[in-house]
Amino acid sequence: MPERWTPDSWRGKPVVQVPDYPDKAALAAVEKQLSTFPPLVFAGEARNLKKALARVAAGQAFLLQGGDCAESFAEHGPNNIRDFFRVFLQMAVVLTFAGGSPVVKVGRIAGQFAKPRSSPTEKRDGIELPSYRGDIVNGIEFTAEARTPDPRRMVEAYRQAAATLNLLRAFAHGGYANLASVHQWMLGFVKDSPQSRRYMELADRISETLVFMRACGLDLESHPELRSTDVYTSHEALLLGFEEAMTRIDSTSGDWYATSGHMVWIGDRTRQPDHAHIEYCRGIRNPIGLKCGPSLKADELLRLIDILNPDNEPGRLTLIGRFGSDKVGEHLPAFVRAVKREGRTVVWSCDPMHGNTITSASGYKTRPFDRILSEVKDFFAIHAAEGTYAGGVHLEMTGQNVTECTGGARAITDADLNNRYHTFCDPRLNAEQSIDLAFLLAELLKKERAGQAVPLPAAAGL
Ligand code: TRP
Ligand code: MN
Repeated sequence: MPERWTPDSWRGKPVVQVPDYPDKAALAAVEKQLSTFPPLVFAGEARNLKKALARVAAGQAFLLQGGDCAESFAEHGPNNIRDFFRVFLQMAVVLTFAGGSPVVKVGRIAGQFAKPRSSPTEKRDGIELPSYRGDIVNGIEFTAEARTPDPRRMVEAYRQAAATLNLLRAFAHGGYANLASVHQWMLGFVKDSPQSRRYMELADRISETLVFMRACGLDLESHPELRSTDVYTSHEALLLGFEEAMTRIDSTSGDWYATSGHMVWIGDRTRQPDHAHIEYCRGIRNPIGLKCGPSLKADELLRLIDILNPDNEPGRLTLIGRFGSDKVGEHLPAFVRAVKREGRTVVWSCDPMHGNTITSASGYKTRPFDRILSEVKDFFAIHAAEGTYAGGVHLEMTGQNVTECTGGARAITDADLNNRYHTFCDPRLNAEQSIDLAFLLAELLKKERAGQAVPLPAAAGL
């Protein structure tokens, strides 16, 4: 019999990656206040996402999950949200049209504020201060004042998430995402690039198709699915005090839901089976992601699946592999076989970002685009060989014209990184690199759906 779960039962477990708030009374007051605020999402939406992910698990749709590594208070503006949304729609439409697959769209947005850190403190010139843990916890400037965890930041994060979600919903259902606008999603700075030409050709074909369908007598106006799209939100459920305050009973089902976002995931650093983050996530009924890195063992994975999805409910659990292009062939096949052998239903997703982070010669944290592509290709190849379905990707990306990942069609070099290196945390794909990747994904997806083999990585040992 599993122990009784409550939104605060995680407090009785060991926990890592939590900030040390000096003012405990202020923390308690903020958590209490948050627990009285309206939910950001409705449980019925989380259930719809779960149904959509169940279709992904069954090989009938593809999961596109992406957004900033960390959202920041400073970059909270309408243009940022709009530009991310445009690129995200472009990627989705490429996958839907060229890949021939329905796409489940999940932003890493409207709540992605908290960051796990490898060290609790940071030293500069002999001064030691708490590490930056994301804008929901403390400030990035290296001063004692900024770095002291401040609970009021949670209220600010709530406000920002609400405003971001509001704009996303308006874009998704208010006309911006209309397929008739497919040409207008192209961003100015991407124009006159190979990606933009390829995208414009695809957009032309979509427009032609719409004209053709209308000529055939189809009344396009009576199909709202052509004019709008469902976009869901997700973030890492790291700051458990915040998550607990946003956890509510759904009056229609009597079940507990995290209402801070539609889907939450558990990071690779906080997935200890007997620790607080797993305890919290097991009790909420949202779709859950689990990051799986090279240090995870297959038997430990099965144990986590038992805890997080005891009823083997399709769509409940997405396994997000983040191995690195040099390690995916060594680790992923064993996981796939173990999960298949035990008859567990999961969505297999690939995070090709976090295992491919390097420090460049000039000292920037970067990710070579080639390695990102390579991990994605191997992910598809391994699933093709194992007879399982490569169901999705999890990306760190932005609509801005940044230079954070090297390579891509513009061949961004180490020397270019300092031109527009804006990230608050990890390096993100820029708009061109994102569209480029979407076209590659569409090809892989098309092959997967046609049952064609993709070349295997050497290390897979098959
Ligand atoms: N509603 C469909 C979907 O979400 C078709 C669609 C409308 C669409 N607007 C879109 C697809 C924008 C991708 C991008 O799949
Ligand atoms: Mn990251």
